[in-house]
Amino acid sequence: MSKPHLLVIGPFPDADLQPLERDFTVHKYWLAEDRDAFVAERADLIRGIATRGDRGAWRSLIEALPNLEMIANYGVGFDAVDIDCARERGVRVTNTPDVLTEDVADFGFALLLAVARQIPRGDGHVRSGKWSKGPMPLGARLFGKRLGIVGLGRIGSAVARRAAAFDMSIAYHDLARRDDLPYRYVDDLVALARESDFLIVTVAGGAGSAKIVNADVLNALGPSGFLVNISRGSTVDQAALLDALENGKIAGAALDVFEIEPVNDPRFNALENVVLQPHQASATVETRQAMGQLMRDNLAAHFAGRPLLTPVV
Ligand code: 8YV
Repeated sequence: MSKPHLLVIGPFPDADLQPLERDFTVHKYWLAEDRDAFVAERADLIRGIATRGDRGAWRSLIEALPNLEMIANYGVGFDAVDIDCARERGVRVTNTPDVLTEDVADFGFALLLAVARQIPRGDGHVRSGKWSKGPMPLGARLFGKRLGIVGLGRIGSAVARRAAAFDMSIAYHDLARRDDLPYRYVDDLVALARESDFLIVTVAGGAGSAKIVNADVLNALGPSGFLVNISRGSTVDQAALLDALENGKIAGAALDVFEIEPVNDPRFNALENVVLQPHQASATVETRQAMGQLMRDNLAAHFAGRPLLTPVV
């Protein structure tokens, strides 16, 4: 039997590509010079898409593929996949929840510590020789402080467990209170920011959370407050954030995600009170292997007529 044709949005590492190439006829979208022509030339063949959380699958692409059956997303966040379009077209969608939770939470905590204790700046202080001219400014303490979590889902809860070990007082904002968890619920995000020393964003991206961290929230966080974002750039009003950082309205920010990726606003580069990362919270060998495996297991299940492991649609 011939192998199903798969459009791979990519890029994916060889460790993920090789098993895909064993089971599918793979079409490498990211290597195409003229991507629209590439899709058009093989449109009738494609039955599946393998994509990344930051690339997704958009309406014009889905509509260009008349025989598309499934989109397998390598990431828990599927906000870049046009879910409405997939539903309309009867296309199944899967994501990769759970396997990345603990690594993403570790990274969130690493960013809290990095921005509070100025770890990247300290590294620069040593490397540049500035150390011999004098000490760095003092950092902020993390343990025992007030942590506000925006979105107490899988990742937010994993961040909270780590914060408990740092004796932090933990509160959260979400659409609804979680009675199964012991943390304090605050139904208004501005109020949560006002009551937090550190605000960490772990909410899922998408229309419902677009720019929920706005100028009011940042003003409430205040001149000694720090923002950490490990969700999506879309959840923060980036213009308001840059203004807050440039004008001392908040103390600092650590960001793994941006409004536009991989291009970033050069205004961030001029700031000393930020820690900038290239969307890599899930990027460990172990987690990326597990994400790739789950993506492939979902594809294999679909094309073998078995139930999907982690369906979204
Ligand atoms: C990945 C992610 O960086 O899971 C998500 O939602 O954003 C990340 O795990 C991404 O999917 C890789 O492109």
